[in-house]
Amino acid sequence: MAVIARKPNVVVTRKLPDAVETRMMELFQARLNTGDQRFGAAELRRAVAEADVLVPTVTDTIDADVIAAAGAMLKLIANFGTGIDHIDLAAAEARGITVTNTPGVLTEDTADLALALMLATPRRITEGERLLRSGEWQGWAPTLLLGHRIAGQRLGILGMGRIGQAVARRARGFGLSIHYHNRKRVPEEIEQELEATYWEELDQMLAHMDIVSVNCPLTTETHHMLNAERLGTLQPHAVIINTARGEIIDENALYDLLKTHSIGGAGLDVFENAPQVNPRLLTLDNVVLTPHIGSATHAGRIAMGEKVIINIKSFWDNNPAPDRVIVGVTT
Ligand code: 8YV
Repeated sequence: MAVIARKPNVVVTRKLPDAVETRMMELFQARLNTGDQRFGAAELRRAVAEADVLVPTVTDTIDADVIAAAGAMLKLIANFGTGIDHIDLAAAEARGITVTNTPGVLTEDTADLALALMLATPRRITEGERLLRSGEWQGWAPTLLLGHRIAGQRLGILGMGRIGQAVARRARGFGLSIHYHNRKRVPEEIEQELEATYWEELDQMLAHMDIVSVNCPLTTETHHMLNAERLGTLQPHAVIINTARGEIIDENALYDLLKTHSIGGAGLDVFENAPQVNPRLLTLDNVVLTPHIGSATHAGRIAMGEKVIINIKSFWDNNPAPDRVIVGVTT
């Protein structure tokens, strides 16, 4: 008699696009979160105790306590998202749990948002929108809302991975010259294509840039990489863009510099204590703030969901999951 393979019990912590959820219901024994209420720590612990596969997002803290609560069946954490800083990878590895993510499919969207902030901040676009909506705009004036020219400026990219390179490609179209700091120098052909200058020393690069874009992952090494001391080396007109993770910048130090106009401005899509936004930042005009929407496109979310599904399906069928970050034991 043929053995009918059991479908994996998959717990999904957030509401995903309908098309992704429908496919998950077809393929898996999926428990969805249609109400989209964030799981608390207790719910996460319950989920990992029951599931074969957990599908979390950046809003779930999968720390050592949650991993410790995992049942023997939990074999895979298939993250919906590329960044995996919210997952205790060492704890997962120690328990033999495989962890996957969704790289590559949100590169272009995140780079678009970085460019949008890079234009919006020096050109004071959201400040202008606020003025218009307030009803207090008196019409064109020669000195109204003057900003800074983009073309000809130096862009320093912190983290020259997929997203950093996609930012560089776009920025060149706006006449920016490309500089970067990365753990490793990128291959020569990429440097040539982007006419990119490598700075081995971050401190030296920062002092020479007009715009700095943060595009590296959050790790113990990059936490507060832009601390008060480093931020203090920026030029007074410099603008910082962050579409990566809030914790890479010391937000209080950034606030102090913005408040005293010691730097030009900041365009931030991510925050140190998201979803709480430092209330002091909200009082400033020289910041453009967006609510972590770097990868928020319909196509991007569907592609992320497809990646999650392929990772689960491959793993459950005893094939290597394509986007393995941590390889645990197989099913
Ligand atoms: C995702 C992100 O939308 O993938 C990432 O690392 O920061 C976001 O753009 C989010 O992580 C979903 O979990």
